[in-house]
Amino acid sequence: MDKKTENMNISENPVFSAIYGRRSIRNYQDRAVEREKIVQLLQAAMAAPSACNIQPWEFIVVTGPETVGAIKDSIARWGGWNAPVIIAVCSYTAYIPWQGDPGTFDCAAAIENLLLAAHALGLGTVCVGGFDPRAIRQILAIPESVHPVCLVYLGYPAEQPAPRTQYLEEAVYWEQYDAERPHPPRPGNILV
Ligand SMILES: Cc1cc2nc3c(=O)[nH]c(=O)nc-3n(C[C@H](O)[C@H](O)[C@H](O)COP(=O)(O)O)c2cc1C
Repeated sequence: MDKKTENMNISENPVFSAIYGRRSIRNYQDRAVEREKIVQLLQAAMAAPSACNIQPWEFIVVTGPETVGAIKDSIARWGGWNAPVIIAVCSYTAYIPWQGDPGTFDCAAAIENLLLAAHALGLGTVCVGGFDPRAIRQILAIPESVHPVCLVYLGYPAEQPAPRTQYLEEAVYWEQYDAERPHPPRPGNILV
């Protein structure tokens, strides 16, 4: 680490600042996102680590209001946010030789890069995972060999949730697991 980075207050560090500042945005401005910016986000996404460097990720960028609307209408809950762009992140599974993970981990790494890059460019995002894969396949003409992983809603934010970490000591074990430790639900878990 160079001296400048070492002496930097963590909140001034651009990487930490983007990590803590990225929050899910569920209210957007009525403003289109420039195509060049979307390409910059995809370049950041495709800098992610990938098992055996297979890079299974594929991105369907949807900006047409009708298709964006059809996607939102197909989602029963927690998908009605007014973002002007939806990026469907998918995994092309044909080159993945193992059972178990159809490229989800690689796509998740790419998605986090995309979310952080969006924040750095003044854009907002939210991951939407609660979609019906059959409906999304039909709307976006996704074939069987391609696995839809997540929808990323994108646009200029009309809200600014506070930066934060959700660091919890109870989520960390040093050297060995402690099976005796209680597991209360995490603060903020919306399902409990
Ligand atoms: C895999 C995944 C799926 C998610 N699905 C949804 C969703 O369907 N709708 C939604 O509004 N937020 C969704 N979120 C966003 C989470 O609710 C959010 O990340 C969490 O509450 C933490 O807040 P933060 O992103 O502001 O830090 C999802 C996040 C992840 C990682």
